[in-house]
Amino acid sequence: MLKKIPTTAVPLSIFEILKGFKSFFGNKSYIEEFEYSFARYMGSSHAFSFNCCTASIYVFLKAIKKLSNRQEVVIPAYTVPTLVLPIRKAGLKPVLCESSLDNFTMDFECLPDVINDNTLCVLPIYHFGFPYEIDLPLKLASEKEFFILEDTAQAPGAMLDGKKVGTLGDAGCFSLCRGKNFSTFSGGMLVTNSDELANFVREERNLLPRQKFSFEITSPFILTLYSLVTRPIIYGSFYKLISPFKHTTVHESFESKQYSNFQAIIGLSLLNRLDEFNGIRLKKGMALYEALKDNEHIILPRVTKNSTPVFNHLPVVFKEIKTMERVQAELWDRGIDTGRMYLKPVHHLYDLGYDKQKELFPKALYIAERLITIPSHPYLDNKSIEIIINVFKRL
Ligand SMILES: Cc1ncc(COP(=O)(O)O)c(C=O)c1O
Repeated sequence: MLKKIPTTAVPLSIFEILKGFKSFFGNKSYIEEFEYSFARYMGSSHAFSFNCCTASIYVFLKAIKKLSNRQEVVIPAYTVPTLVLPIRKAGLKPVLCESSLDNFTMDFECLPDVINDNTLCVLPIYHFGFPYEIDLPLKLASEKEFFILEDTAQAPGAMLDGKKVGTLGDAGCFSLCRGKNFSTFSGGMLVTNSDELANFVREERNLLPRQKFSFEITSPFILTLYSLVTRPIIYGSFYKLISPFKHTTVHESFESKQYSNFQAIIGLSLLNRLDEFNGIRLKKGMALYEALKDNEHIILPRVTKNSTPVFNHLPVVFKEIKTMERVQAELWDRGIDTGRMYLKPVHHLYDLGYDKQKELFPKALYIAERLITIPSHPYLDNKSIEIIINVFKRL
């Protein structure tokens, strides 16, 4: 079978990429226009762009360090492991909190045991595009005077109680990298309603180096390739060539830079279509969710009341690893690729000083070993949805 549904995709048109060439003529900064539009879309007072979300986290942490001497930054034990890097680069200490089987992200019931007088910041993370209540961390933050940075990398546009997630805490960060709902291949955003924090972040961000001209000039080619390889027919036909680029190793460093003018034009165009894409993802994701939710072999994340998830993926945790492997193989044979996100909890990949003899975060390990992501992007067609549902029905 030539056609294969990739794990992630954003329908970026060649026409949209061509628009980016405007950036090579004249002196106009599309970055400012993009930041202004992003802030308006989020309903936030300020938005700042970066070369990646990791850089936005780093700059935010450097900014809050100017307001407090505390040292610890709390993240869930099951998450994107490279979150350790901006924390360390800012001279701070990553601290883990157990993950929850309810939503595959931070278990807030464990949070009171993790925070202390040295807690500077807590990062609730909306994994896979699912919003959930952060009332408890917000309450603890105001009592114990630490900051909340919502990691909204995977959930741009997701809503909770009529508000966009990413605007509920002190700041929210977003990733525009490959695989996200809103992607210009790379990039990151930070939003905040605090004028004080915005001033610090602006100062730090403006000190970052700009993207080199060589980056700007190669961007059209990279974005064109990216747009093409995620189309099912090309993904399937050239899978052998594409697959080596899918796997990333555990990074030891990252670069902090400003966003590029070329990408800002693409970003402006995609921002106009984000609600449309998210609507399609919601429809497809919920069709799968409803069909799979009572399957006794798996666990799905809870969909929070009064929330609108944006289904970066549909994450499925299998009770048995063998069943997971069988489902992945069957879906692949039927033309649907699935992903394994974060094969190990963070403390198995980076030495954070935790005791290696006993497993301190068993739920995080359970999720890491058993979670696959099912595509829910606009290229997932109805026939493939039916195939996925049938594969699960036969378990
Ligand atoms: C939850 C989360 N946070 C942060 C990041 C880092 O984003 P970036 O690759 O843009 O630095 C990612 C990227 O995968 C992510 O999924």
